Amino acid sequence: MKEKITKSDVLILGIETSCDETAAAVVKNGREVLSNLVSSQVELHARYGGVVPEIASRQHLSLLNPLIDDSLKEANLSFNDLHAISVSHGPGLVGALLVGVATAKALAYATGLPLIAVNHLSAHLYANRLEGFEINYPAVNLIVSGGHSELLLVDQSGTHTSLGHTRDDAAGEAFDKVARVLELGYPGGPLIDKLAGEGNPKAIDFPRAWLGEEGRFDFSFSGLKTAVINHLRKLERENKPYHLADIVSSFQEALIEVLVEKTIAAAKEYNAKTVLLSGGVAANSHLRREMKERLAQEKPAAKLYYPSLKLCTDNAAMIAAAAYPLYLEEKFASLDLNAYPGLKLEV
Ligand code: KG4
Ligand code: ZN
Repeated sequence: MKEKITKSDVLILGIETSCDETAAAVVKNGREVLSNLVSSQVELHARYGGVVPEIASRQHLSLLNPLIDDSLKEANLSFNDLHAISVSHGPGLVGALLVGVATAKALAYATGLPLIAVNHLSAHLYANRLEGFEINYPAVNLIVSGGHSELLLVDQSGTHTSLGHTRDDAAGEAFDKVARVLELGYPGGPLIDKLAGEGNPKAIDFPRAWLGEEGRFDFSFSGLKTAVINHLRKLERENKPYHLADIVSSFQEALIEVLVEKTIAAAKEYNAKTVLLSGGVAANSHLRREMKERLAQEKPAAKLYYPSLKLCTDNAAMIAAAAYPLYLEEKFASLDLNAYPGLKLEV
């Protein structure tokens, strides 16, 4: 049940348009979600096998304003009740980000409310906090989505240190690209997750990129993607039949094994009390299961948390939650805020 809103509560509107989800949310005190609306454009992009930036921007333009109105309505609030307007200003697609940034600036100007610029990547770290889990620190957080694969060490104060990241494709990108080659549809992650359950994960021994001691917490998935493509082309050339479920199951096994083993190695090295998963790929059933089983073999075993599906994938509640500490520190953006497609994680 939602608690009553009092005068000392901080109510922040979050806006998210970095890729193909248009989203608006209102979050109280960085913890309590009063509304969290996402309008996915997946069906529009599916026919092209991936996100078409121009279409994404146009859709954000027509969807965002009504979505913001609905998010306030659902929270039973008006602009007058809010304390700040927050927006994701990167990383992402520049045209898509600009729609959110321009809208947030116009709203801040019109209402006189402070504007808060949020790094989309850091915002993914807030998904587990919004679930209200009791997180013990230090924690290792694996952020895996369509655009990012990052392994982070997080301490009590929320300060995070980057331990490693992908050197090429992000984990979700590898899922999407493999699904595209296999003509499974878009987005590939959920489709592969489902189909993999019908296949044999040991059927094909696809490569795992461990990257040696120096890159022990980094990732690389483009070699795995190429190996799947080469495997498929070879079978086609030789006119041999193939078992689709075995291919996707073996691909998923290879990718998840690397994610799990590297996360566990980081948790051990830094004596993490908690392991957190976030980002769209954190929705993967095999990742959740494997991580849990592998962690249980460790002594002492870190506790595992991952957000509900809605908070794994892109949403604006995580943007508003990430804005809360910035609000308290009065780290406000000016009205000449721009979009930064290549924005890096602040560490
Ligand atoms: O976090 P997100 O919504 O957007 C980005 O910030 O990129 O993540 C989307 C990504 C897509 O690549 C999608 O294929 C992947 O998350 N994804 C999954 C699953 N559900 C979504 N990947 C693997 N298994 C899933 N069940
Ligand atoms: Zn994201």
